[in-house]
Amino acid sequence: MRRLWRGAGLLVLAQFLGASIYFLLSGSRRKKSPIPVFIDVGPVEDFAPDSVTLVRRGEFYLNRFADGGFLALSRRCTHLGCAVTWDRERKIFTCPCHASSFSRDGSVLKSPAPRPLDLHPLIIEKGRVKIDIGTRRRRTLFSPQQLGYPAGKQKT
Ligand code: FES
Repeated sequence: MRRLWRGAGLLVLAQFLGASIYFLLSGSRRKKSPIPVFIDVGPVEDFAPDSVTLVRRGEFYLNRFADGGFLALSRRCTHLGCAVTWDRERKIFTCPCHASSFSRDGSVLKSPAPRPLDLHPLIIEKGRVKIDIGTRRRRTLFSPQQLGYPAGKQKT
C-alpha cells in the first residue's frame, strides 16, 4: 500500500513539474515575440493631462502626465504577473498579490517586484494614440525619454 501511495505521489509531482516547465517555456516565448500589434485607443484629446486610464483591451494603463507626455504601462506586476490596480487617491499602482507598489511612472516603490512595470511602445499618429500591445519592454529605470508626445509638443 505504501508503494502505491509513493507512486501516486511521484505521478502528481511529475505532472506538477511538467506543467511548471510548460508554463515557464510558454511565458518566455511570449516575451520574445517581437511582432508589433498596434491598437488605436483614441484621439489625444480623450486623455486629459494628469490622468491614468485603464485600457482593458490591451491590459495596460495609459498614463498621461501633466506636461502632455504619454506612457503605456503594462498591467502585469513584474513580480509574478498579477494585475496591478491604480490607486487614484494615493496616485500609485498597487499589486493585490504580494503588496508591491509602483509610482506613477511605473518605478518600484515597494518590493518584492524586482523592476519597474514594463512599457508598451506607443506612437501618436494624426492626433491618435496607438499602443503596441504585442510588445512589452523591460526596463530598469524610468527615463523621460520613455514618454511619447503629440507632434509639436515634445519636451526639450
Ligand atoms: S505578483 Fe505583484 S507583488 Fe507578487
